[in-house]
Amino acid sequence: MNKAVRKSLIVANWKMNLNTHQASLLLHKLSEKVISHTDTQVVLCPNIMTLQPLSLQVNHRQFKLGAQNFYWRDEGAYTGEVSATMLRGLVDYVLVGHSERRNVFGEHDRDIRHKVQAAYRNGLKPILCVGETAHEKAENETHHVLHDQVVSGLLNITSGEVEDLTIAYEPVWAIGSGEAVQPADLRDAVKSIRKQIHALYGEKASKKVRVLYGGSVNSQNCESFLAVEGVDGLLVGGASLKVDEFASIVEKAHNSRKQKG
Ligand code: 13P
Repeated sequence: MNKAVRKSLIVANWKMNLNTHQASLLLHKLSEKVISHTDTQVVLCPNIMTLQPLSLQVNHRQFKLGAQNFYWRDEGAYTGEVSATMLRGLVDYVLVGHSERRNVFGEHDRDIRHKVQAAYRNGLKPILCVGETAHEKAENETHHVLHDQVVSGLLNITSGEVEDLTIAYEPVWAIGSGEAVQPADLRDAVKSIRKQIHALYGEKASKKVRVLYGGSVNSQNCESFLAVEGVDGLLVGGASLKVDEFASIVEKAHNSRKQKG
């Protein structure tokens, strides 16, 4: 597989942390510390309230912005919601189907598929999050779960659109637990995801889709995930709130990308 065509992607998911002032301060510190590399794209996903001020502050050549969530309809009587249409111009990426959305807020495959479609409709790049729970892992259902989440999330998506897709493999049990995936299991999961894309959309799409790993990533363990064949980057939660940690992860991603060629 020619990996050289896929840029590495390091995504910071700040989750429901930092008020506007704190987010602005973190962005300021990151902009001083994180070195830009043409082979490694860094995406910051702050909370929705801080997106607007950060979009004015950010150096768009250094960082892209992403939204953590949105509602799939473009407008209407949906109290409290923000649409992909409203995010246009503010962000390039949107997270879709994060396990916290699935498990805490009860999002179903149907919502997730609508969101993927809404992202493309509005010119945003979706990062579709998939992953098994601890129970599903114990029952050896990981491949089955990944298959179902990928197939369902991409219903009605064309092969042209899929080339712009990023899939983040985030085992639910690894998120915020300090217990990350074993590289051999990561390799199997990524292989399974690409096989699924190949079956649905053919070889070209399966080579173009980017696959990330997320779940208890830090500067100490990130290289072991980045070295796995088919892994194009990371989705980072807790460690993305720490300037030195995150800058180090980005640097290691760049080095790993150079080694992979
Ligand atoms: P942690 O890196 O804190 O485990 O979170 C992972 C995650 O959910 C990123 O979306």
